Amino acid sequence: MQIMTETAQQDKLPIAKGSTEQISSHVRDHDGSVSSNDKLARLVGKIDKSDISSIKQVVTKLVEIINDPDSGAKELKDVIDKDPPLSARLLKRANSAYYGYRRKIYAIQDAIVCVGFNTVRELAISQKVSEVFQDNSSYEGYSRPALWEHSFAVALCSKLTYTKEFRQPGENIYVAGLLHDLGIIAEDQFLQNEFRLALEESKRNRQNLPDTEKKTLGFNHSDIGREIADSWEFPYELVKAIGSHHDPEKAEGQSKRVILTLYISDYICQRNEIGYCDAPYKKDERLYYRCLKELGIKGMAMNLIVQDVQKEISDLKSAGWL
Ligand SMILES: [Fe+2]
Ligand SMILES: [Fe+2]
Repeated sequence: MQIMTETAQQDKLPIAKGSTEQISSHVRDHDGSVSSNDKLARLVGKIDKSDISSIKQVVTKLVEIINDPDSGAKELKDVIDKDPPLSARLLKRANSAYYGYRRKIYAIQDAIVCVGFNTVRELAISQKVSEVFQDNSSYEGYSRPALWEHSFAVALCSKLTYTKEFRQPGENIYVAGLLHDLGIIAEDQFLQNEFRLALEESKRNRQNLPDTEKKTLGFNHSDIGREIADSWEFPYELVKAIGSHHDPEKAEGQSKRVILTLYISDYICQRNEIGYCDAPYKKDERLYYRCLKELGIKGMAMNLIVQDVQKEISDLKSAGWL
């Protein structure tokens, strides 16, 4: 078994890939209690053995397809074909009144032709990711369906910002939106007592959840999400975006646009109270406008985009898909 060096123990984050068990057995605070870094490493280890990791393979493959310009409809069909429940849900969705096709669609291939490659790709990702949000437990204003509505709205808002404002497809932005709060699901599933206490304390102190988590756990759901995305070997840009979604000031280099877009989308969806809000108390409006300025986007443009998001969500709800 590998023993961590002193330097590695001091440099607690990020966790080295594939070494979560080794870290968890060796990093302890001076008083013998389990350190927050150890707790985070154990948590990521548990996720990899849980139903949450069922989304890993399909999402990884779909992210690869999104990032590979040579990938086409055949690769997309192959991924969906390998997951019968996903295929069934996708066909049901393509045949729903929402898309308004008169001809019945029986095959994924036809769905890709009728509904469109990009739409099917996004549908496949959102259907697969939604699997881990399907628990009805709720506590102190939090519930998985409300978190799913929020995540879906942020994904849509981020994608629309890319297509309308930057005229770019934004390869990873939709997935970043869907998965940015995945760390909350991990807390809900594996640190339920601590998570409930954090929700209570956040409400009692009128402090945003990420700040309360940092205080009570030593890390927050952005850290958890970053470690999951890293252990699943997602593209660097996606790992950074998930890990920095509450700290856009740390954004730099090539990932900056993705991180800032995710931040402004998360912010405006919360300001409009779409689904669950993890930061309802102290809204840093100046930071929001600084990010907009840096991205070259007008506040009014974001207001129009969020209206489109609200309309889409309301249509999907009426059609029974959300
Ligand atoms: Fe968050
Ligand atoms: Fe969020």
